[in-house]
Amino acid sequence: MKHCRSCNAQTKPVANFGTMPISNRFVDTPNEPEYEFELTVEFCPDCYLVQLGDAVEPQEMFNDAYAFFSSTSNSMQEHFKQQAQMIQEKLLLRDNPFVVELGCNDGIMLRHIAEIGIDHLGVEPSGNVALAAEQNGVMVTTEFFNLATAKTIKSQYGSADVICGSNVVCHIEDINSVFAGVSELLSRDGTFFFEDPYIFDIIKKSSFDQIYDEHLFYFSCLSVEKLASRHGLTLVDVEMLDVHGGEARYFVQHTKVAKPSQRLIDQLEREKEHNLNDGVAYIKFAESAAEIAKELRQILNELTQKGEEIIAYGATSKSATLLNYSGITNQDIKCVFDNTPAKIGKFTPRTHIPIVSYENLDQHPGKHVLLLAWNHAKEIKRKERVFIENGGKFIETFPRVRVE
Ligand code: TMP
Ligand code: ZN
Repeated sequence: MKHCRSCNAQTKPVANFGTMPISNRFVDTPNEPEYEFELTVEFCPDCYLVQLGDAVEPQEMFNDAYAFFSSTSNSMQEHFKQQAQMIQEKLLLRDNPFVVELGCNDGIMLRHIAEIGIDHLGVEPSGNVALAAEQNGVMVTTEFFNLATAKTIKSQYGSADVICGSNVVCHIEDINSVFAGVSELLSRDGTFFFEDPYIFDIIKKSSFDQIYDEHLFYFSCLSVEKLASRHGLTLVDVEMLDVHGGEARYFVQHTKVAKPSQRLIDQLEREKEHNLNDGVAYIKFAESAAEIAKELRQILNELTQKGEEIIAYGATSKSATLLNYSGITNQDIKCVFDNTPAKIGKFTPRTHIPIVSYENLDQHPGKHVLLLAWNHAKEIKRKERVFIENGGKFIETFPRVRVE
């Protein structure tokens, strides 16, 4: 029996993906011992928050070996440039504002805020990416964000006009401490916004690979509304984003100044119409995931039996779930192409597929490529025009398995 990390009510199990490794822990050799945990999903019938059954210790995931650098794709560079512009144009309404970013990674967004001379602070627990942020001209403190950190920041720098976090709030197990910290640090009419994978999109696409160790929470407007309200905060707006396979950006303010937008009210209605406040929606999702994994295995078996050499594209964090749950190993996939220096020369966690430096696909003898970085499909297919023109095919998995 498990309890909700947001409201403490008893949760219901809705999915089990079996044993998994740490998704971003690419190993140096296939013999290296690997941490393992059970990847299960629970739904809270009281506050509607979807969450992992078992959390992995943060130090196991976010340490100096953390291999996720935000700045490896052009589309994410552009996305965070636009996010910085949005902050500047819409949210910085007074003189001498102060911006705090939780989990600033390598400074992909904050460097734009730093460039225009705005006071800012990145709070980033992974030492290696924090160092990269500093090298990008960003002020950083290497810490986890919680109520205690929020109090220290407030006493040193004053209240924050904007607090933001991209792909980080869903990582933090003590979610109430994050919201309590935001409530403490946010100025009276300031805005807190955060963006994370959106459970509505995950369900619509059956993209179960979004479920992995780092993503402890799968937010909806319904669950964020309840969570915020317990901390003197109110969800005031939501924006849909076409990054990381479908995310939502939630805007939160102090309840005293909050005026929820029509766009948010409409989205809350849509979520209810699709039963996101009902565990059944998630059980159906788990069934689709099992079908996708089975079909993918079949297609790979057929191709390898014909003597095809299959490679994969993008050693993404989420591929740990897809590969492990579908039972795919280095017997099925020869190697994974990736352009992240920290990943090259290593092996995918537990499935031990070698990660090799990106090469042009049209130089490769195989004609089939498993697209693990499907969230970057547009950018990748643009880059691989010649491969496609010469008859190369991508194997894609969501919302259903297809070869095209
Ligand atoms: P992400 O979706 O979690 O950002 O991970 C994308 C991974 O794919 C990352 O390891 C970089 C890699 N990648 C390439 O190797 N080539 C590319 O063209 C793109 C867009 C990503
Ligand atoms: Zn709950």
